[in-house]
Amino acid sequence: MLRTLIYGARQIVTVTRNNKEKFLCGKDMHAIGVIKSDAGGLSLMIENENIVAIGTDDAIARDFEGMEIDNKIDASGCCILPGFVDAHTHPIWAGDRVHEYAKKLAGATYMEIMREGGGIGFTVEQTKLATDEELLIGLVARLKRMLHAGTTYVECKTGYGLEWPDELRLLKLLEQARSYIPIGISITYCAAHAVPKNKTAEEMTEDIINKQIKALKQLIDNKEIDVNDIDVFCEKGVYDIEQSRRILLAGQQIGLSINFHGDELNYTGSAEMGAEIGARAISHLECISEEGIRAMANAKTFAVILPHTGYILRIEMPPVRKMIDAGVPVALGTDANPNAFSSAMSISMNLACVLCHMSLEEALAAATINSAAALGISDKYGSIEVGKKADLIICRCPSWEHIIYQFGDHTHIIRYVLKHGEVVYAKSA
Ligand code: NIG
Ligand code: FE
Repeated sequence: MLRTLIYGARQIVTVTRNNKEKFLCGKDMHAIGVIKSDAGGLSLMIENENIVAIGTDDAIARDFEGMEIDNKIDASGCCILPGFVDAHTHPIWAGDRVHEYAKKLAGATYMEIMREGGGIGFTVEQTKLATDEELLIGLVARLKRMLHAGTTYVECKTGYGLEWPDELRLLKLLEQARSYIPIGISITYCAAHAVPKNKTAEEMTEDIINKQIKALKQLIDNKEIDVNDIDVFCEKGVYDIEQSRRILLAGQQIGLSINFHGDELNYTGSAEMGAEIGARAISHLECISEEGIRAMANAKTFAVILPHTGYILRIEMPPVRKMIDAGVPVALGTDANPNAFSSAMSISMNLACVLCHMSLEEALAAATINSAAALGISDKYGSIEVGKKADLIICRCPSWEHIIYQFGDHTHIIRYVLKHGEVVYAKSA
């Protein structure tokens, strides 16, 4: 058995308070657990992959007296937080869209660019032209940036293939990436990300249901690829509400959880539909209705907020305050993709606070325990609790809030990232 001790910390941000909460909503999102030391430091003990004890340096030293400790990490002057969980990313693609960024700054909208064949369509073409090796190198490099920015678990969507052989390739590469980088990966099947050229949304809906999801089931049954969720871009001019519902239900039937893009650029009734069919999560929701908020609160469907996307597209932010007050569990993601080029959850949290009016505590809860719950993994991840996986970040700062407050400075603040108890990133002095 491998035993690791982290000692001397100023604060340990447990996030959950009473232990074993699987997510936080309403006022509880603001009331996260933080252990502070007035005198002396705080310790956290890890055995193999798991957290086994949390307490003052003195108490932990007493409890483990005489026992062998393999690794010791000095966290003096530091705060320990759970690793961030990024609940929404599109990390596998080739090329970039910097030219479109310039167009958007000059006033073009996301849908105008998409209709001209740019946007997702452009990235699909670039991705097709890339070799497996190029795609894998790009993917692993992006995941590495995320890991170094404190993300220890990430949802990764396919979606720049659209049609079967291309989507299959992305699935295989996502699966392969697991052996190249020690970050947790939850795979979401997102063939319904856009409608390919020369196809209609109806033709693609049939193709995804009758061909792609059937082939996907085979792969899952053969244990070739571990896929968790099914996704659709439910949007005016992309997949309509009924097509989205059919695709999502077909995915659900083969055991995938529903986790999709909805009510982003236009109101489509995605929130109401998702709540009705038992979606675990719906992302974006900039245009959600009052009824949609109520439906998601009742169904406890997670709202995955992506503030970087609203910021880059200069669109109205989702009504996050109303969601939290109504009891919708809110999670957070970077949406890392060639449109919203970003990989740091600390930046998303800062934007969530400033632009979506979340408190620091709510943003952290959204980025940890609630994002984990939005991916169905909060029994093991997303908070610092005895028995949970030791996915941790150690930050050198006077109090934990600095990781959000010091906008873009996470590279200076994060000293160590641990995945399953092992140091996977250490900042050079
Ligand atoms: O979540 N809205 C659809 N999908 C992505 C954007 C992907 C892209 O533009 O390449 C999103 O914002
Ligand atoms: Fe997205």
